[in-house]
Amino acid sequence: MKSVELQLLTASEPLSLDEEYKMQTSWLMDEDKCTFIILEKSVFENTGDEIGAMIGDTNLFFYHSEDCVQLAEAEIMIAEKSARRKRRGWEAMLLMLRYGCEELGVEKFQVKINLDNDKSISMFQKMGFSKVSESAVFNEITLEKYVDEKWKHWLKEETQESECIQNEEQ
Ligand SMILES: CC(C)(COP(=O)(O)OP(=O)(O)OC[C@H]1O[C@@H](n2cnc3c(N)ncnc32)[C@H](O)[C@@H]1OP(=O)(O)O)[C@@H](O)C(=O)NCCC(=O)NCCS
Repeated sequence: MKSVELQLLTASEPLSLDEEYKMQTSWLMDEDKCTFIILEKSVFENTGDEIGAMIGDTNLFFYHSEDCVQLAEAEIMIAEKSARRKRRGWEAMLLMLRYGCEELGVEKFQVKINLDNDKSISMFQKMGFSKVSESAVFNEITLEKYVDEKWKHWLKEETQESECIQNEEQ
């Protein structure tokens, strides 16, 4: 990812092409990671071109937390600037959170966000996340959300027009 803006907002390091391939392989193969590419539906429906319709991605990274619950760190990026502020980030993140708790057994979600990224902080707060810590050294805030029945119900309501379809080739 070459965009300096996105590197800052997502706290990512610039990678060489070789490192990028290794990273993609790791996201595909490792059991502690889950990733989905976000497509602009209207573009994909009109062209059938998956690559041309790509606007971003969303990831979960799993690990066990101190309180022994299944914890997943969540990430979202709408890389295509023209696709931002159209609720794509909101919708994709909610779908991933729903998939995480319904299909993958996640009990707590965590997000780490650059302190300057007020848009993303605001989005996750609206999703019910609360601040648990802030690091001046890393210029980063950590927000968390425990999964409970009320929140699962809310996720379902917010994403009721979507359904999970298993790819037959898998
Ligand atoms: C943060 C990001 C995912 C938001 O996605 P988006 O599709 O652009 O935003 P949405 O239209 O879904 O907005 C959802 C909420 O985010 C916040 N938000 C997003 N863009 C905003 C903006 N330009 N100004 C203020 N608030 C904004 C608002 O709270 C908004 O809720 P609202 O519509 O009720 O006001 C997207 O801007 C992005 O990928 N940015 C770069 C990478 C990044 O910051 N990733 C997050 C790191 S954890």
